[in-house]
Amino acid sequence: MRHEVDFLVIGSGIAGLSFALKVAQYGKVCILCKGDASEGSTKYAQGGIAAVMYDTDSFDKHIADTLVAGDGICDREVVEMTIREAPQRIQELVQYGVNFDMDKGGGRFDLHREGGHSEFRILHHKDNTGAEIERGLLQAIHDHPNIELKENQFAIDIITQHHLGQRVTKHTPDIECYGVYALNCKTNEIDTYLAKVTLLATGGMGNIYSTTTTPIISTGDGVAMVHRARGVLKDLEFMQFHPTSLYNPAEKPAFLITEAMRGAGAILKDRNGKEFMQKYDKRLSLAPRDIVARAIDNEMKIAGVEYLYLDARGIGKQELINGFPTIYAKCLELGINITKDMIPVRPAAHYQCGGIKVDRNGQSSIRHLYAAGECSCTGLHGGNRLASNSLLEAVVYAHNAAMDAVKEVSTFNFDKSPFNAIPDWNAEGMVLNEEMVLITQTKKELQEIMTNYVGIVRSDLRLRRAFDRLNLIFRETEELYNRSVLTEELSELRNLIACSYLVIKHAMARRENVGLHYSIDLISND
Ligand code: FAD
Ligand code: SIN
Repeated sequence: MRHEVDFLVIGSGIAGLSFALKVAQYGKVCILCKGDASEGSTKYAQGGIAAVMYDTDSFDKHIADTLVAGDGICDREVVEMTIREAPQRIQELVQYGVNFDMDKGGGRFDLHREGGHSEFRILHHKDNTGAEIERGLLQAIHDHPNIELKENQFAIDIITQHHLGQRVTKHTPDIECYGVYALNCKTNEIDTYLAKVTLLATGGMGNIYSTTTTPIISTGDGVAMVHRARGVLKDLEFMQFHPTSLYNPAEKPAFLITEAMRGAGAILKDRNGKEFMQKYDKRLSLAPRDIVARAIDNEMKIAGVEYLYLDARGIGKQELINGFPTIYAKCLELGINITKDMIPVRPAAHYQCGGIKVDRNGQSSIRHLYAAGECSCTGLHGGNRLASNSLLEAVVYAHNAAMDAVKEVSTFNFDKSPFNAIPDWNAEGMVLNEEMVLITQTKKELQEIMTNYVGIVRSDLRLRRAFDRLNLIFRETEELYNRSVLTEELSELRNLIACSYLVIKHAMARRENVGLHYSIDLISND
């Protein structure tokens, strides 16, 4: 089936929904998401969204904290723009119906603090901020007559001149995007979506690792699509590991223990109940994430153990139960009473700082193609994202991209577009792959390779080994792809392989230790 819209949005997390709400008054919007509309990292965000709301804090301090966390390689102009725009974007979220906790007097937002922040500036909704944001935005979307939201539609590839039979390389000037091919996961048909403007808001790629806080939908689809379309990607070596996911090996995704708990006074301890962060950084448990995750990784390796502890017992019982109700209930379910027991924690892959390179308007290197949210790389995070700056980046760039896309759509000339010449997906001669094990086993192998060789601490040898092992997996999977009817599982596996390859390639090319990229073979700046 063929569909034509003004604005096509791939992804229904904070980035996609915010963009859709902004452009909807200017044309017909279609949002595709590959599962349920609410499923994505946004729903799982706990800590909150960082913004300077009162003059007890300042833009300069938030800017400085972001630059320090980013380890000297953030784009300063982007940092300044994002942080100064934050209060306006927060007000819009509130207008859409998102509730943030207020202080006891009820007149001001209640603000939390997280690692790397010099002030209390995290707006939150208890410890389930993302679920509240997703709820509020989805409600606003459902109420909008110009927006159609379609679940279970898996975007496979963006459509470019390549699909018109032209040769497209990374040197081709003016690669253009005309929409996407998407698999309807209910009917197994592949539809053609043509659009004047397309936004990729497909989230992260945490599932290239075995242990991740990100949901199973986070398979790097947007990044992989742009890679195949020969677009520009940036900073993929900077995979952020959250220091404190709950140690519960059977659980996927790994449940997060928010950094806001350390902000409230919880302390990291080794298996003997002794503090250790003083050996690594004077900011102790509230040092930026890259430093804390590396410290935990090191302590775990020295002691030969699979987890350490977060001790929240010093926080008052009522503050713990009322301020962190989701974590309290979750741990209790597993027999851990956080008011009395220490919480077993270990790092988990959490956030991809790099992605599809975009300019300040969210425009990618491919014409008519925008990207926002975790799949994009704006320059805000540099080598390491400051906690709670991700939701902020998503709303700021959704706004900027929307403003630009509206202009783009208004000048679009349908008669000059090649829409009518774009072919539908050709699945002729493909057979159904009846051996799911080929996919599930390969995915496990890939995650093991990435976890063991491309994790928190890297080396030249480990990266080389990962590269070679991945090569074999890549060739086998491409063979399978070339003869099989396309499924969501196979498509995701290809995307995970492409993303892993890109992370390794970018890591090999980075010849200094900076931010989240740390190799025992390289020297550090500090
Ligand atoms: P997501 O919310 O991940 O949504 C991605 C969307 O893309 C989904 O709708 C999915 O269906 C769709 N999609 C993906 N691929 C396809 C495809 N091929 N076809 C169709 N649709 C597709 N950041 C903060 O700033 N503060 C926090 O407190 C915070 N806490 C976090 C806690 C956890 C546990 C996690 C995992 C992350 C946290 N982050 C936090 C990071 C932040 O939540 C994410 O970076 C952000 O929500 C990403 O939003 P997004 O809109 O880019 O993508
Ligand atoms: C957390 O709540 O610790 C996660 C915050 C983030 O990833 O920004």
